Amino acid sequence: MKCISIWGFMGAGKSTVGRALARTYAWKWLDSDTEIEKQEQLKIPDIFKRYGEEYFRQLETRFLENLWNRMQSEPQASEWLVLTTGGGMPLREENRQWLKKLGISIYLHVPFDTIAKRLNRRDSQRPLWDGSQLEVMRRKYEARLPSYRQADVVMEVQGKSVEEIVQELG
Ligand code: S3P
Repeated sequence: MKCISIWGFMGAGKSTVGRALARTYAWKWLDSDTEIEKQEQLKIPDIFKRYGEEYFRQLETRFLENLWNRMQSEPQASEWLVLTTGGGMPLREENRQWLKKLGISIYLHVPFDTIAKRLNRRDSQRPLWDGSQLEVMRRKYEARLPSYRQADVVMEVQGKSVEEIVQELG
């Protein structure tokens, strides 16, 4: 089994695209945040509140190591797994290396202003998004771009429907 990991900033639509991609091709879908929440029996904001960001980042790296080990022990050569990542996962060099080892990586690029509109519209449960600090958020977004751009595929998704994105990726 090989893994297609979907990278992108918060609100880029990673889960929506990942779920649709997996459903279209009858592949498996895993979401790193959901898996970490299950394992810790805590929601992401509570993990941040109780233990801080660094601890969460360690959980992300451990999740990737475990996934790699699982994939070695259950090889199913023909099957793809879609992995939607938390927005900060590809920032660590070590995590990018795991993600590359696991398979193909795809970065969904959405301009900052669209992200800001989306996240401010929703009642966001994201500990690292503060809609009242847009310039700080813009700098965070810009600082992350060089890491995201190291994905194997950089995809502009602005203005495309989920169906169009899935078709392009397929
Ligand atoms: C984070 C993004 C979140 C989640 C955590 C940290 C980030 O996931 O992993 O709050 O650093 O960008 P989404 O990208 O799914 O919002």
